Amino acid sequence: MRYDYVIAGSGIAGLYSALMAREHGSVLVLTKGSIDECNTRYAQGGIAAALGPQDSPELHLADTIKAGAGLVDEEAARILVFEAAERIRDLTRFGVPFDSVDGEVALGREGAHSHARILHAGGDTTGAHIEISLSSLARMSNISINEFSQVEEINVEGGRATGVQTLDTRTNSRETFEGRAIILAMGGCGQLYKVSTNSEVATGDGVAVAYRAGAEIMDMEFIQFHPTALRLPGVPVFLISEAVRGEGALLVDENGRRFMQDYDDRGELASRDVVARAIHTELAKSGADRVFLDVTHLAADRISARFPQIYQHCAEQGLDMATDPIPVSPAAHYVMGGVRTNVWGETTVPGLYACGECACVAVHGANRLASNSLLETVVYARRVVERTLQPDTPTAAALTQDACALPAAEVTEAPNLDRAAVQTLMWDHVGIVRDGESLARAASTLAAWDAAVPTPMDRPAHELANLITCGRLTATAALMREESRGAHYRSDFPEPRDDWQRHLVFRNDG
Ligand code: SIN
Repeated sequence: MRYDYVIAGSGIAGLYSALMAREHGSVLVLTKGSIDECNTRYAQGGIAAALGPQDSPELHLADTIKAGAGLVDEEAARILVFEAAERIRDLTRFGVPFDSVDGEVALGREGAHSHARILHAGGDTTGAHIEISLSSLARMSNISINEFSQVEEINVEGGRATGVQTLDTRTNSRETFEGRAIILAMGGCGQLYKVSTNSEVATGDGVAVAYRAGAEIMDMEFIQFHPTALRLPGVPVFLISEAVRGEGALLVDENGRRFMQDYDDRGELASRDVVARAIHTELAKSGADRVFLDVTHLAADRISARFPQIYQHCAEQGLDMATDPIPVSPAAHYVMGGVRTNVWGETTVPGLYACGECACVAVHGANRLASNSLLETVVYARRVVERTLQPDTPTAAALTQDACALPAAEVTEAPNLDRAAVQTLMWDHVGIVRDGESLARAASTLAAWDAAVPTPMDRPAHELANLITCGRLTATAALMREESRGAHYRSDFPEPRDDWQRHLVFRNDG
C-alpha cells in the first residue's frame, strides 16, 4: 500500500504530525500497540511556553540553553521558544483543555525555569488530555490507523527511505507500506532501565530502526533521571511531578532535614540533573533507598486540586499528602539523544524524518529543561510536515564527518538474556553516576548480547533487540565522553572539559 505520509508512532508526535499532514495528502499511522498506548499520556507536568506577563521567549531560550550545559543548538532552541505560543493555540484548537485561573491560562513553575511558564490540563494529567484530544480527532478524520503494527525495518532504496516493513503483532504477518515521507515518532527508550517512569512501550524502536537504516544517532549518553518517583516496596514506579516542587514541596532526608541548599542555591528547583545527583549522593551517604518529598506545610485542598492524580495515587498506597511526606527516589525518565535531525526534522537519510523523543535536534543539549519535551514535539512535528511541502529544498541533514560506528562483537552464548537483564545492567553500570570501568563492562556485555540475540520474530523479541541497540549506543557514548556534563556524570572525570563541548554521533555505514 502507498501513502503520502507513513508515520510510525501514536504519541503526541505521531498524532500531531498526522493531523497536520492530513491537509496535504493520504496519511497512515502505524502503532505497535493500541493507539492510546504511549508515553505521552503519562506526562504530568505540562508544556512550557513563555506566556506570562513578565516572561518572554528570550528568557525561555536563556533557561533552555543554561540547562543544556553547552550542547544546545541555539537555532533549534530559538525556533522552539518562539513558535511555542502558536503551537499552544493549535493544541487548544484541537480541544486540549488547558487549566485556567480567572479566565487566564494557569502557569506553573518547574525546576530551572526562571518564570512560571508550564501550561497544564486536568491539574497533573496534561499528557492524558493531549493524547485523548488528538487521538479522538485522528479517529474521526480521514487518517488511516494501523494498530498492533510494529515497524521492523525502514526500506531504503538508492539511498532514500521509501517505506517500512511491519509486523502485525497479533498474527505475526508482515506487510510493506510505501510513503513519500516516512516520519519516525516512536518515542524514547526509558525501558532500558530497571527503575523508569516510562511506559512498557518505550523500547527505543525509533532509534534502533533508524540506526539500522543508516541514519545518524546523536547524544545517546545523555539520559535524564527524574529526581522524584514514588518509592514504596512492591509498588510500580510512579512519577511525582516536578510541578509539585514548583508549588513549594521540599526534599528532606529520613530525619526531616532539607538538603538541596547544600548542593545548589536554587534548592528544590535546581535543574533536574543536579537534583537527581544530589538525591543519589544523599542516599549513598545514608545507605537509605529513598528521601522524602514534603508538602505537609501547604494547604491540603490546594494540593489535591492541583495534583488530583498524584493525590489519589498516593492515597491508594495509604499516603495522605497533607500529613505524610512522600518517599521518593530517582528514575530514568527521558533520553536527550536520538535520531539526528536538522531544524526541519530531516534525518541524514533522504525521505526519512523524525520528531518527538526519538529525534535529536539538540534542543535539550545535555539536560532537558522540564516540560520542554511536549513543546519540542509539537513545534518540530509541524516543521516536518511543512518541509514535505517544499519539494525544491534539500531533503536530508548533512552527514557528520567524524561519525563513529558501534564495534562488531564475537557471537557468544547469552543464556537468560531478557529485558530485565538489560535493565539491571544499564541501571547498575550506565546510571546516574558512571565510571570508565563500569561503562566498559556494560558496553562489552551489550555488544556480546547484540551478537547473540536471534533474529526477532515477534514484538517482545524486537523490543529486546532494539533496547540492546540503544543500550550499546548509550553505554559506548558514555564511555567515550571522558568528562561530566549535564545529565552525564563520570566519577572518574567529574568536571566538564572544553574539548568535549561537542556531540557524539553514531552511524552504521555497514
Ligand atoms: C514532570 O511532571 O515532572 C515531568 C515533566 C517533564 O518531564 O518535563
